Parts: sequence; C-alpha cells; structure tokens
Amino acid sequence: MKNIIITGGAGFIGSHVVRLFVNKYPEYNIINLDKLTYAGNLANLKDIESQPNYRFVKMDICDFDGVYALMQECKVDGIIHLAAESHVDRSIKDPFTFARTNVMGTLSLLQAAKLYWESLPEGFEGKRFYHISTDEVYGALEMTDPEGVEPPFTTKASSGQHHLAYGTKFFTEDLKYQPHSPYSASKASSDHFVRAFHDTYGLPTIVTNCSNNYGPYQFPEKLIPLFINNIRHRKPLPVYGKGENVRDWLYVVDHARAIDVIFHKGTIADTYNIGGFNEWKNIDIIKVLINTVDRLLGRAEGEDMDLITYVTDRAGHDLRYAIDSSKLQRELGWEPSLQFEEGIEKTVKWYLENQEWMDNITSGDYMKYYSDMYDNR
Ligand code: NAD
Ligand code: TYD
Repeated sequence: MKNIIITGGAGFIGSHVVRLFVNKYPEYNIINLDKLTYAGNLANLKDIESQPNYRFVKMDICDFDGVYALMQECKVDGIIHLAAESHVDRSIKDPFTFARTNVMGTLSLLQAAKLYWESLPEGFEGKRFYHISTDEVYGALEMTDPEGVEPPFTTKASSGQHHLAYGTKFFTEDLKYQPHSPYSASKASSDHFVRAFHDTYGLPTIVTNCSNNYGPYQFPEKLIPLFINNIRHRKPLPVYGKGENVRDWLYVVDHARAIDVIFHKGTIADTYNIGGFNEWKNIDIIKVLINTVDRLLGRAEGEDMDLITYVTDRAGHDLRYAIDSSKLQRELGWEPSLQFEEGIEKTVKWYLENQEWMDNITSGDYMKYYSDMYDNR
C-alpha cells in the first residue's frame, strides 16, 4: 500500500488518523481530502502539515469528477473514509445536508474508486475501501437491571471481560440497523451502499462502527469540549432532559489505533465494532468534568456544579449506546490503551492548555484564515 486518501482528515477523528499514518508510515503518501466545512480545521494538523508524505486537497466528496481525477492522479491504493456531517443536533435542523454528504458523498467515493481500480491491470487486488461509521446506526438500547441490581452493574462481554454496564444488551456486529436520528439514518444508508458495492461489484470494503469518541481537537458543539469550555468561562451547561442518557466513550487516539489495525489486518467485507466497554450517564460525566476543570484551574473542586442547567430534551434522544467490541479484541488483538479517568484528565488538560485553538473556533477565525488560503490556490 502506497497512496492513501483519508477523507475528513481536517476533522476531529480524521486529524488523529492522518497524524498517526503520516508519522508511523513514512513510506505512504497520505492525501487528506476535506471540504473544510465548519467542522474542518487545518490547525488540527499543524504539527504534521510540512511532512514530505502529507498533502492536503480541499475538495467536496460529492464532487464525483474531482474525486475521480484525484484518485487517478495520485494512483490511490487505499481509502479511509471519515468525511461526514457528524452532529445529531444539526441533523435534526438540516437533514438534507446529511443525506447529501453522508449518502451521496459516500456513493461518489465508492463509484470513483470502483471505476479507477477496475481500469488497472491488477483490478481490485491489494486495494481497500475502509468506511468509518458509528454505533448510532444500531438505534438505542434499553437500561435493564438484572435481578433488581441498581445500574451500573458488573457484567461480562462475549470476550469474557468483566465491565460496568447499564443494561444487559450490547451492540454486536450482527444486530439489525434501527437508526432514529437523521444523522444515524444517513450513516446507516452509507453503510448499506458500502456493503452493496462489495456484494454487487466485489469492491474490497470494510466497515467499522465506533462508539462516542472524546479527546483533543473535537469541535466544541459536542458534549465534552463544549462543557469544558463553558465550565472554564462559567457559562451554563445545557443538559438535555434529565441527563440520564448513557453513552459509551472511547479516547480518540484508541479509535485511530483501531483504524490502523483494521486497515492493515481486517478481513475484506467484514464489520468490526469499536468501543472501550466504558458506559457513562451524561450527568455523571458532566460532574467529572466540573470537578476536573475546577481542580486544574485551582478552584474549589465542585464549586461550579450550579452551572448545570436542565433544558428541553433532544428530539428522539437515544437512551443508551453500548458497544461490544469483543470481535475486534479477539480477532485482531486491539484493545484500548487508556482508562477513562486517565483519558478525561488528559483531555481536560489539553483544552485548558490550548485556549487559543478554542478561541479561534468560537470566534470563527479558523475558517476565514484557511478558507482564504486554500481558495486562492
Ligand atoms: P467532524 O465533524 O469533526 O469532522 C468531519 C470532517 O469531514 C470535517 O473535517 C469536514 O470538513 C469534513 N467534511 C464534511 N463534509 C464534507 C464533504 N462534503 N466533503 C469533504 N469533506 C467533508 O467528525 P468526526 O467526529 O471526526 O467524525 C469522523 C467520522 O467518524 C464520521 O464519519 C462520523 O460519522 C464517524 N464517527 C464519529 C464518532 C464521534 O464520536 N465523533 C463516533 C463514531 C463514528
Ligand atoms: P454529543 O456529544 O452530541 O454526541 P452524540 O449525540 O453523538 O451521542 O452528545 C453526547 C450526549 O450528551 C448525548 O446524550 C446528548 C447530550 N448532550 C447534552 O446533554 N447537552 C449538550 O449540549 C450536548 C451537545 C449533548
């Protein structure tokens, strides 16, 4: 494998994947294809942007002609597809943008890869189209108490690993898709197109579904960076509903590590779920964030608890997500490198130490600077 296009590389997870591949594989040419929407920020890649094996191309994945020409020009061997509209609240307000980018954009990449690789003497041999998806396509899980035990209770994954959970059911790879939000419906649709391209044309595809990620460079519309910044500035923390919803959190670098392993060793046409067996109620995470920010800023721990403000619930708010990643652990030997407490401490520190990164986003300056630079090329 030599020439790899990573789509959405200027976003949160994509930037960690680009960084990992550029640093770990100097023999690969890494092409970051990104439209630079509001969520794309090239400041996320400042530390690697002048590496000789890295190149940025500003492009919309829906631009079929542009994507096809780029694949020919760079003789692409592998595609790692992360570009997407990714925020549930935005999808509730503007579902069309989600269908356009997540469904039509993925289709445009699939068709371009198929046509380009079919034109080569070796065909699909040694090629790979890796699609990054979400656990949200499986819908929502119930919270159940086995024999009246108050959750979270200790339970056992199919790998035999013990962990804390809020229910007895988990998302496994064979589960039926039941998306509820326009975001998850668009991701589910894109997953179906990827599998259809394997089953119909033999395109060498892989799909992974990951749980909620957290860590540096996440856009501050998502729970963790938004709340860290609000606590710092003593702004209200808008908790949807009662804060009882459960999410399964994974440190973003561990997701990038999983993508590396699966890209190189995963079985074609297979699906892998990625998660850290790390379920948290929103309100409990929020309390951890308040205590951590307060402590690191030298305030009395917990003094900002009164920032918690319960607001109207998100429409169709999924109750619980919980990934069973036993298959990935068993078959490819991946497991998370960080415990949650360690990951959250690192994450809060990073946001507090990188206030300039945050201010550039909240002021909107980041878009102006990079858009001007690349539009004028
Ligand atoms: P993000 O919103 O931070 O970044 C998305 C990136 O895609 C941005 O750089 C944006 O500019 C780019 N993009 C958007 N539309 C584009 C288009 N039409 N053409 C080209 N580029 C475009 O998203 P993220 O949180 O890093 O998520 C990346 C992928 O991982 C998504 O596919 C998402 O569904 C999936 N995922 C995310 C999570 C999570 O917790 N964030 C969990 C599981 C899966
Ligand atoms: P989010 O980070 O948007 O991720 P997702 O919707 O993909 O899970 O939200 C995580 C959880 O936090 C989710 O249950 C919604 C909740 N939430 C709030 O309570 N308030 C907020 O301001 C945000 C952004 C999210």
